[in-house]
Amino acid sequence: MTHRCLNVLLVEDNPGDVFLLQTLLKQTESVQFDLVCATRLAEGLANLSKTAFDIMLLDLSLPDSIGLDTIDKVRSYTLDVPIIVLTGLDDEEIAMQAVQAGAQDYLAKSDLDDNMLARAIRYAVERHRLQTELAQAQRQEEESLKKANDELEMRVEARTAELQEANAHLQDEIAERTKAEREREALVTHLMAANQFLEQLTQEVQQSHREIEQLIADIPSILIGVEADDRISQWNAKAEDALTLSKADVLACTLSDCPMTWDTQVVLQGVRRCRELQQAIELDNVNFTRADQSHGFLRLTISPFQLSSAGEPGVLILGQDITDRRLLESQLAQAQKLEAIGQLAAGIAHEINTPTQYVSDNTRFLQEAFHDLATLMKQYEAVCQAAHDTCLTDTHLNAVKALAADIDAPYLRDEIPLAIQQSLEGLERVATIVRAMKDFSHPGGEEKVSADLNKAIESTITVARNEWKYVADMVVDFDPDLPDVPCFIGDINQVILNMMVNAAHAIGDLVAAGTLSKGTITVKTRRVHDAVEIRIQDTGGGIPEAIRSKIFDPFFTTKEVGRGTGQGLAIAHNVVVEKHGGTINFETEMSRGSTFIIRLPIDFPLPEST
Ligand SMILES: Nc1ncnc2c1ncn2[C@@H]1O[C@H](COP(=O)(O)OP(=O)(O)OP(=O)(O)O)[C@@H](O)[C@H]1O
Ligand SMILES: [Mg+2]
Repeated sequence: MTHRCLNVLLVEDNPGDVFLLQTLLKQTESVQFDLVCATRLAEGLANLSKTAFDIMLLDLSLPDSIGLDTIDKVRSYTLDVPIIVLTGLDDEEIAMQAVQAGAQDYLAKSDLDDNMLARAIRYAVERHRLQTELAQAQRQEEESLKKANDELEMRVEARTAELQEANAHLQDEIAERTKAEREREALVTHLMAANQFLEQLTQEVQQSHREIEQLIADIPSILIGVEADDRISQWNAKAEDALTLSKADVLACTLSDCPMTWDTQVVLQGVRRCRELQQAIELDNVNFTRADQSHGFLRLTISPFQLSSAGEPGVLILGQDITDRRLLESQLAQAQKLEAIGQLAAGIAHEINTPTQYVSDNTRFLQEAFHDLATLMKQYEAVCQAAHDTCLTDTHLNAVKALAADIDAPYLRDEIPLAIQQSLEGLERVATIVRAMKDFSHPGGEEKVSADLNKAIESTITVARNEWKYVADMVVDFDPDLPDVPCFIGDINQVILNMMVNAAHAIGDLVAAGTLSKGTITVKTRRVHDAVEIRIQDTGGGIPEAIRSKIFDPFFTTKEVGRGTGQGLAIAHNVVVEKHGGTINFETEMSRGSTFIIRLPIDFPLPEST
């Protein structure tokens, strides 16, 4: 067995005690001691700083330190060395206090033996080692505890930070979700409102669809929808009534297949033109057979129209039975003509009166002349009888001569043919006026007829003569090769008459004002390309700038009541433009006069004029 050597520091000022302890330690067999001695505490502490001692044997009555205070001094210097207090006194009290103050053990110097000393030293060393290890272990434990604690705190801190971050994240997410939720709610509300709006809109669309259906059914015009492939897809009640075909009969028929009572060729041509031009086409006066089998007229408007939602556009035909209106119009035109005749009657009567007057004067002259001549003839017969009976005397002859002289036979011989000629002329004049009146007031037919406009204008000049002859001379410049024009001649007469009366009034105003003694009205006709042009020119005062845009308006007049109603040019415009597809314009210059220019189309081929 190897015995460990223990370094012992003995702090003892008593040489006897030092010797005793050296001796005892040397005697110890189980342990080897290496003893260093110090006589003062300061010296002991200096040794402690130089050498690592296993034990310190400390006397409490030293020259530089006495009592328990000595232990405190050593302990405040180092804790690494165990202390066994050596007491001279056998004082249990002090010994206990020394142990409490940090000593491992105490030994009474008087009781010492080698075993006890060795054992006390070994125990003290062992206890100190254990205590140190314990303290070490405690420290380590504390350190590891602290470390674990620090780590835990760090982890807690990190986790807390993580949690805070996660929390912040969560808060953000909650906020976002709340926001999204609110947005979703708003969206839902919005969608519900939109849905409600859509439902309302759908109802409105359905309602307006029903209304449109009703409108189509109730519309007081013929309404026919024709698809791009010519199939009929709309046919309203009015079409059923007017064309005496039920909707079921015509739907899905084509326009050309349907047994229509109208002039199918004209309608098909109109539909074709509408498709080509992609614009509305108006067809006036389409012939058709009415429900009562009478002949009627339709006015049709054919327009391009998208009937079904997809596919090629079709056409929409809107039509009206204008038979009754046309009848009324012609009656009205006739009434206006008669009204014009009425207005012209005084003038016409005057016109007829003059030739009638001299025809009647001449007839009276012829009557008297005949009476005289008959008397003379009787006388001649008596002379002839006497000559036959061979009893003719101078008396007979003188009586004849006297009678011939009395009745102025040579005068009668010259005048009678003149009177007959004049009477014939007078009668011809009356016949012309009557013919002109007849021509002028002729009601005209339903159809346009080819008319000689020169002749028609001539008649109008005649019937209106009394209107212009006091204020103007009439100059006519007619194109002798003027082609006949398809027209409603009664209406055209009415237009020309109004123009002449207007011209006469314009000149008459200047005559009445004393500016002019007599003016001129010039009427010209000529062919211009595919139209015939009529110019009625006057030397009146012209049309003031301010009223030029209004003169064709119905009821616009500058004339006093009784002289004009403002309908003449409005009717003229309607007749020329609407009824004949012609034009009516005017040129005017203040103080120089005006010219009204009418052009009527010749809408059938004519040989080129030379
Ligand atoms: N040749 C003309 N010269 C000057 N003014 C004219 C001429 N023709 C027409 N006007 C003007 O145009 C107006 C309208 O003419 P319009 O023929 O329509 O009606 P009106 O002659 O006044 O009446 P109505 O013809 O009904 O008897 C006339 O009142 C006149 O002011
Ligand atoms: Mg007029």
